[in-house]
Amino acid sequence: MRKSRIAGMGYYVPENVVTNDDLSKMMDTSDEWIQERTGIKERRWVVPGEDTTSGMGVKAAKMALDRAGMQASDIDFIVFATLSPDYYFPGPGVQVQEALGIDTVGALDVRNQCSGFVYALSVADQFIKTGMYKNILVIGSELHSGGLDKTTRGRGVTVIFGDGAGAAVVTATDEDRGVLSTHLHSEGAHAKELALIGPATRRWVNEIIEENDENDISYFPYMNGSYVFKHAVRRFAEVIQEALVANSCTSEDIDLLVPHQANLRIAQFIQKSMRLREDQVYNNIMKYGNTTAASIPIALCEAVEEGRVKEGDLICLAAFGSGFTWASALIRW
Ligand code: ACO
Repeated sequence: MRKSRIAGMGYYVPENVVTNDDLSKMMDTSDEWIQERTGIKERRWVVPGEDTTSGMGVKAAKMALDRAGMQASDIDFIVFATLSPDYYFPGPGVQVQEALGIDTVGALDVRNQCSGFVYALSVADQFIKTGMYKNILVIGSELHSGGLDKTTRGRGVTVIFGDGAGAAVVTATDEDRGVLSTHLHSEGAHAKELALIGPATRRWVNEIIEENDENDISYFPYMNGSYVFKHAVRRFAEVIQEALVANSCTSEDIDLLVPHQANLRIAQFIQKSMRLREDQVYNNIMKYGNTTAASIPIALCEAVEEGRVKEGDLICLAAFGSGFTWASALIRW
């Protein structure tokens, strides 16, 4: 049966490094607090005006195309995952089509936050399996830094997030490898526990301006951290197990788990609860923070570069985030 496989990966992070000490000059926080709770040492933030979500996505895509040995003209569909698009509409998929000079192929935008890349990969996998498309560009990119509350009021959220992009060229294959299965879930009852409420159609920007309420922070991301943490550890484990069972595998068979880089403590918790060795889990949140839809493709790309992913390896991707949504993918590399 026709399968999809990742033919090339790329990533891009802004050059501007923001350390925990840099943050402690903006708000009441400390390197010690951030490292202890999240494992994050530094993140990259775009210098205002110097890049965009689509622009970073294009840079990552160019690297992925190069590594896949393909031209932009080989791509017949684009899937772009982000929660921080350049515009409210249209989504950034069309900007990638234009920037790469690809013919008028379809461009789909996925809005599943931290699970966005796995959802996007699943979409690409289905289109390839049905034979509709052959080479699909899957991108996850986020520019969080411009929209964060960089005062003490926002510290519980702001210290976590970083900017960056990752991309994969997903291609059709008749070989006995590639994406084995994907598993997608959602539970909207918890939508407001991790959300950016406004401005949107329930509260337009002119209402916010008219109210002129200095205490209104609905346009900053809100996260009920400990609530999210508790759900995350449960759902991560469940969805990884679901992927393993669907493919008659056990956690011992996993060569590398690349979890969404939400918080190092969450990844360590999953590692222990699933009885995985440290070398079976890849983490780079220490350097980049949580880059949401970009975190899995950046991590997977670095893991490939470091030789942690070899042909024939069993790779598990797993994510959890706002929605709540959660997802996994099992790949025979
Ligand atoms: N620096 C110093 N102190 C802080 C900071 C900070 N940056 N942030 C919060 N605090 C304080 C709080 O005010 C609180 O003080 P108090 O006890 O005097 O009230 C104390 O530290 C503890 O705050 P908590 O929010 O309870 O801290 P917690 O231990 O839960 O850690 C964290 C917070 C790191 C956010 C954690 O809850 C977490 O990682 N949650 C999950 C995040 C996640 O997985 N998100 C999903 C992906 S994101 C997405 O989908 C978009």
